[in-house]
Amino acid sequence: MKKTTQLYEGKAKKVFLTEDSNLVIQEFKDDATAFNNKKKGTIADKGVVNNAISCKLFTLLEHEGIHTHLVEKLSDRDMLCRHLDIIKVEVVVRNIAAGSLVKRYGFAEGTVLAKPIVEFYLKDDDLDDPLMNESHAVALGVATLEELSVLKNRAEAINAVLKKFFADRKLKLVDFKLEFGRHNGEILLGDEISPDTCRLWDLETNEKLDKDRFRFDLGGVEDAYSEVQRRVLELD
Ligand code: TMP
Repeated sequence: MKKTTQLYEGKAKKVFLTEDSNLVIQEFKDDATAFNNKKKGTIADKGVVNNAISCKLFTLLEHEGIHTHLVEKLSDRDMLCRHLDIIKVEVVVRNIAAGSLVKRYGFAEGTVLAKPIVEFYLKDDDLDDPLMNESHAVALGVATLEELSVLKNRAEAINAVLKKFFADRKLKLVDFKLEFGRHNGEILLGDEISPDTCRLWDLETNEKLDKDRFRFDLGGVEDAYSEVQRRVLELD
């Protein structure tokens, strides 16, 4: 399958149409942004690493009966995907307090949550992706109540699969962000799952092995991404 016209360029990926209107190609870039584009940089080979990790995790989820947009990994940076009508809701699942949960509600970083927290954010860069509840999402027309209920249940099911998979690889899945889309009457998991979109801490040392190293200038960004890739892909 070949790329035809570019449909969209995001902060970390480009999306291309193909000769088949049901399929698109997602190309992973090395560009990194944080704090809604206020911080910009590149992470060497991030696109290659994130494509490999995402393909592996989507395949794992498919085996567990969770439908994703993945068709196949085409090359180092290219993923062939089903063409989704993206739902403008970012779904965040949290197992351990970190990031904006600490800032917004005063949890101590590292507090293990008794039950995972699922949050919805409006996917809108101009508005800085604000936190929202179901009523906001319905009023804005971005999703129906029924769809939001599917997103929450799907996110919890994905969390259960990924938490165990990462724990087996000595990684704590602290939190992560998911995006979904509509395709032929079905809701599929889209976008990517990678150290850009997850917080992953070493099970024993709590070392941060994710984009927080870039966000907060902790150094060793490339090494952290490669280490996650090694544990996800090589420890089977
Ligand atoms: P937060 O603590 O900053 O709200 O982030 C929660 C999780 O969502 C974290 O794993 C990083 C991920 N995330 C994204 O993938 N994209 C985003 O734009 C933001 C704000 C967070």
